[in-house]
Amino acid sequence: MENSLLIKNARLSDGRVLNIFCREGRIRSVGAESPGAERIIEAGGRWLMPGIIDVHTHIRDMELSHKEDWASASASAARGGVTSLCDMPNTRPATFDLPSLEAKWAAARKSLVNYGVNFGVTENNHRQIEQARGINALKMFMAESSAGYVVQQPGVIRRVLRLSQKLNKPLMVHSELQSCVEEHHKRYSHDMAHHHLLRHRECAIEATRLLLQLQKEEGGYLYIAHVATAEEAAMIAAAKAAGQTVWFEVTPHHLFLNTGHLKNNGNIGKVNPPIRQASDNRALQQALIDGHVDTIGTDHAPHTLEEKNKPYDQAPSGFPGLETSLALMLRLVHEGRIRRERLEELMCRRPAEIFGIKDRGSVREGAWADLIIIDEEKSWTVDPAAFFTKARYSPFAGMRLRGAVVTTIVNGRPVWHEGRLHPSKGMQLEYR
Ligand code: DOR
Ligand code: ZN
Repeated sequence: MENSLLIKNARLSDGRVLNIFCREGRIRSVGAESPGAERIIEAGGRWLMPGIIDVHTHIRDMELSHKEDWASASASAARGGVTSLCDMPNTRPATFDLPSLEAKWAAARKSLVNYGVNFGVTENNHRQIEQARGINALKMFMAESSAGYVVQQPGVIRRVLRLSQKLNKPLMVHSELQSCVEEHHKRYSHDMAHHHLLRHRECAIEATRLLLQLQKEEGGYLYIAHVATAEEAAMIAAAKAAGQTVWFEVTPHHLFLNTGHLKNNGNIGKVNPPIRQASDNRALQQALIDGHVDTIGTDHAPHTLEEKNKPYDQAPSGFPGLETSLALMLRLVHEGRIRRERLEELMCRRPAEIFGIKDRGSVREGAWADLIIIDEEKSWTVDPAAFFTKARYSPFAGMRLRGAVVTTIVNGRPVWHEGRLHPSKGMQLEYR
């Protein structure tokens, strides 16, 4: 049958081994039958998951394409099992008006995987936000971080929360308070050893406390990105238990790295919010195991190595994450601390539900065929020189990981298969 694909003997997250038949980009059957297909992939009992949806990616492109572009980021995504990417607005031009949104849609057509766009919030772009079509979410920075603009006035945040409700779009927030960060910059010497104090945990805790209070009073859909402290995880879990509409994301780096891992690594591990303490790693992992964490975001944030090698004050924050995030998360599965279903929920199902992404994030008939096959036994060493992203460095360099994506299927077509990329065109995400 034309434009069809049969994946045989795939082990789903719940342990069932089944065949998956896809036609014209969508999953048509999941079961024991084995219909004739143009193309057959033998999964051989390996684990098949929905493709990962990363709602927190910095793709760059346009005027910053020397750092990354849609082609390189999406190649990196495909290899890491990520089949949908949502770009952040702190690009050049920044996505907080309609012409820059148009420029971004045009750039995203190069993507090998599916794509969405988070629209930036400034103090006075509410009109533009209301007119923006097809976006994934609103994104607001409360502290400077390669963003160039900051919103921290409660009055503006209230208005944006109401807008998120009206537009039915989550408000994603980078939750650190700029005024607090500036205060701490007067107290400590400016070097990498003090990064986590210059952007003190109190700044993140204060920002999250304010956000939770404002959400309680105004309503709206609040999504707190890259939560990195034990205190915030506890506060958000309590707010959820009290019935507030708040979700939170954690990153693999905040789950698995602490300041002890960053010694002798220059500014490679400089990221905002900063890498914190081992006790934060434990608390975030526990919050994830206990079901409080909603999603995993990579916060893939490529810069050039030359930029990262500049003196501390001039070196930008962020590092790539698309090619390491799944294998890092698999650790929790291998250690028996979470089930496969929970990983699937965090990386695929919940992002689709929270952001209202149509027909993706689960393996079911009628959904788009975004699927990945994982070799769970394959061990590999993180070697940034071999990355597909343009940012060929990582705080995880040299780490031994277990589990690799052998096949990534986007809209029914293999994009990453047998160790190679194959030509593909991603689709613009659609929303409920
Ligand atoms: O470390 C970071 N890098 N944190 C952010 O919030 C922005 C990002 C970037 O765009 O480089
Ligand atoms: Zn980010």
